[in-house]
Amino acid sequence: MKLSQQIADAFERYCLEYFQKDFSKHKNYLLKVAFGRNSSIISIKHFDEAILIYATDPNRGVRELYNVLQSAIEATMQPVEEKASALLCQYNNSTLEVEEFDDDIVKVQSSSDPSNSYTVNLDSLECDCPHFQKIKFAGMVCKHILLANELFGENRSVGERKETSPAPEITVPLILDMQITDTVFYYGSQKLTKRERRGNSHIPSGIRYVLEGTSPEMAIYAIENNDTLLLIGESGVGKSKMIQYFAQETNTPLINACGHNEITVENMLGSLMAINGSTVWKNGILPEAMSKGYWLLLDEINSIDPGVMKVLNELLDNRRITITVAGQPRLVKAHKGFRLICTMNPPDSPIYKGIEMMSFELMDRFETVIYMDYLSPDTEAKLIMSQTGYTDEMTARKIVQFANSIRLAMKQGEIFATVTTRSLISFCKKAVSFDIRTSAETAILRKMSSADRDKALDLFNAIFK
Ligand SMILES: Nc1ncnc2c1ncn2[C@@H]1O[C@H](COP(=O)(O)OP(=O)(O)O)[C@@H](O)[C@H]1O
Ligand SMILES: [Mg+2]
Repeated sequence: MKLSQQIADAFERYCLEYFQKDFSKHKNYLLKVAFGRNSSIISIKHFDEAILIYATDPNRGVRELYNVLQSAIEATMQPVEEKASALLCQYNNSTLEVEEFDDDIVKVQSSSDPSNSYTVNLDSLECDCPHFQKIKFAGMVCKHILLANELFGENRSVGERKETSPAPEITVPLILDMQITDTVFYYGSQKLTKRERRGNSHIPSGIRYVLEGTSPEMAIYAIENNDTLLLIGESGVGKSKMIQYFAQETNTPLINACGHNEITVENMLGSLMAINGSTVWKNGILPEAMSKGYWLLLDEINSIDPGVMKVLNELLDNRRITITVAGQPRLVKAHKGFRLICTMNPPDSPIYKGIEMMSFELMDRFETVIYMDYLSPDTEAKLIMSQTGYTDEMTARKIVQFANSIRLAMKQGEIFATVTTRSLISFCKKAVSFDIRTSAETAILRKMSSADRDKALDLFNAIFK
């Protein structure tokens, strides 16, 4: 039986047994105490509806209630999940001992007080831990099942610790189906389903982005239809920003990593860390995003580490990966909300020569590949004005024209530098206070080699006669 199912069942058993006695008090307890700060993500309206259903149909009411509370349970249990991983690690390293194991009864040391131990019945999901006795809340049941299951896996073969057994399937517990409201984000013919708003620091904010043309439409299609997505485009065309914007608009947590420095095996998959004298496995961004249903944006993926590539190939083929934790294989399945989005610069562009091409193996596995270009001159001019407070439209258009002449020269291999929308924005910001030439120098021309700068200056002089 899957762990999430066990938890749902435990919750059901608990509610049916307990709510009959004093429901209203319990509601208060659940909202105010059990979920603490996470109670803000519980929809009170749906909660009350579930209580009403419960009055006439307890079984259905419990299921409704569970749906309403899922997200809050998930958020509340996240630290528990981390603790469980740490325990598993200790167990594998033989620093944690199981005192007894008798059929379905497991006696384990208390992690908070090692001189204490308690028993967990894996069958009835009962536990004699005093904490559980005191706070009769399904979450506490879950906590112990969670620990026990992490320790012993589905087959519960404690004696077999040292043998390499087949990868236990870690259906990451408490990460249940995403709560999705019926509101959607539309662009063109496509729509993205929004998630319920909840406090998560990975949800981007403060992003302003102008959508134009069919690229964003196709990107939305890919994300909504769970296609793995690769965005190709010159630096600064807005590849990363577009994904961050979509994440912001749909309340989706997003993890972003970039190129050589961040897309490493350690960072992506995870590593062992010493915490308070014990070695603890810390998940990398890939299992983290996969299990929690976040989006993962990998920028500048042209040349990635072969170790990471192998795992990405596995992921793109099966929506699951195997990572090795303390010598044990561990299977991580992708949550249905998880998306992988990659970006790269155009492989045939002269300025990126020398950057390795993405391997065909990996490239071939992307289901949607979109080529993104700079905004149209009209839109780009409006954008740089709106983001900087620059008001001279004629000059703003010339600034964009200047940028496009450099971009063209770059495509033709005459200049080995490009002008990003980002640097046009800083150009325009300076133009609010300084003359055009000085602004161009500091925002754009000084970044170039002297040969490129001479050519760019010719283009500049031709436009700003
Ligand atoms: N469509 C757009 N709307 C708003 N800003 C944009 C847009 N395209 C690019 N930009 C600006 O250009 C900058 C670079 O975008 P970014 O997404 O980092 O480029 P890329 O990932 O393609 O290299 C952004 O920070 C933003 O200021
Ligand atoms: Mg980028």
